Amino acid sequence: MRTRPLKVALLGCGVVGSEVARIMTTHAADLAARIGAPVELAGVAVRRPDKVREGIDPALVTTDATALVKRGDIDVVVEVIGGIEPARTLITTAFEHGASVVSANKALLAQDGAALHAAADEHDKDLYYEAAVAGAIPLIRPLRESLAGDKVDRVLGIVNGTTNFILDAMDTTGAGYQEALDEATALGYAEADPTADVEGFDAAAKAAILAGIAFHTRVRLDDVYREGMTEVTAADFASAREMGCTIKLLAICERAAEGGSVTARVHPAMIPLSHPLANVREAYNAVFVESEAAGQLMFYGPGAGGPPTASAVLGDLVAVCRNRLGGATGPGESAYAALPVSPMGEVVTRYHISLDVADKPGVLAQVATVFAEHGVSIDTVRQSGKDGEASLVVVTHRASDAALGGTVEALRKLDTVRGVASIMRVEGE
Ligand SMILES: NC(=O)c1ccc[n+]([C@@H]2O[C@H](COP(=O)([O-])OP(=O)(O)OC[C@H]3O[C@@H](n4cnc5c(N)ncnc54)[C@H](OP(=O)(O)O)[C@@H]3O)[C@@H](O)[C@H]2O)c1
Repeated sequence: MRTRPLKVALLGCGVVGSEVARIMTTHAADLAARIGAPVELAGVAVRRPDKVREGIDPALVTTDATALVKRGDIDVVVEVIGGIEPARTLITTAFEHGASVVSANKALLAQDGAALHAAADEHDKDLYYEAAVAGAIPLIRPLRESLAGDKVDRVLGIVNGTTNFILDAMDTTGAGYQEALDEATALGYAEADPTADVEGFDAAAKAAILAGIAFHTRVRLDDVYREGMTEVTAADFASAREMGCTIKLLAICERAAEGGSVTARVHPAMIPLSHPLANVREAYNAVFVESEAAGQLMFYGPGAGGPPTASAVLGDLVAVCRNRLGGATGPGESAYAALPVSPMGEVVTRYHISLDVADKPGVLAQVATVFAEHGVSIDTVRQSGKDGEASLVVVTHRASDAALGGTVEALRKLDTVRGVASIMRVEGE
């Protein structure tokens, strides 16, 4: 074993960074044996230098992250600051000064992954980011390496623990959205400002990263269709249950059946209770991968939290250190397929539409005609009503999002349709 240590600069020492430092210290001997050289924490960049950080030598702490990554003797920079800047500049500066990079930063990788990979390639360095998607769950490496010989057709997953906790609470207790969000906040599952989670931004960033790797195609954050889950109601859950379904916020990356394009989207959807994703409870994450030769694979586990996320960071750190000792680099960006990313209108799926209608003869026929005129075939219709008002629940066969959009627009114009109470996609069948 080499005695000269590999030097690691830790940028950020918060929820994730503090756990990375702890594991590096407590498992130092094992990590050295697995890597073939000791790893040494050479510096820790933070914002507040005076904060007490258990287990961290105060002499290593600095507020000058730039100087740390420019030192020239750093082998690996671990970026767990988060956000776009200064993380982006620090990562590119690290490459320029000879270091490889491990990051957990989904926002930055989804937005600027191509440029960061290009910078890593230019300097012949590694860029690893297993922790950026679904915390501890091995997903990036299985897609980048284990499935590199297969053809992935679909990635369908629950990649945000906060929203899964809220939807699971709504499902199991019958609570409304706000009540379930308040519970998630009180238990520490939701941040004070939950926008990034509940509006689907966090899941969309992960979908962009997953789609890019799965389909060997550059998928930008802007390519991902995004719908949050704040409009999901207790009534939607009641409807879902009647269909033998539950509701999850899903990230769905798909290869189109024809035409060689791909799509990536995040939205709430009904899935059958028999689907493995329906049983993913509380704040857990799970991702279902369908590929040509391997078939269906399921990845499940804690998608966030300090120790689980640090586990993924440490796995990357070991891999990058091994590469470095071997004078090699791991897989870089693979975007050779350059498939077009289709807009949401071309996505084909099933829909559950709930309408408030006048309770009088002929309404059902009128509504059915609108569906037929837009080429959307109806699977089931359920009607209930009294005192002149009725509710109509229509479940369609597979149709394009554009066709469904046209149908709903026309339905809204019917005098007998008082309102469209909810539209929900049905997935996983
Ligand atoms: N938390 C999770 O469960 C989780 C899961 C998966 C991925 N991630 C990703 O991991 C990254 C870190 O998340 P986190 O939850 O650990 O964040 P966090 O608890 O807010 O920690 C951020 C750290 O960065 C430091 N920092 C902030 N601005 C800085 C600057 N300009 N220069 C130097 N240091 C700076 C902070 O310093 P102070 O300590 O002085 O404030 C803090 O130590 C993010 O990209 C996040 O998306 C987190």
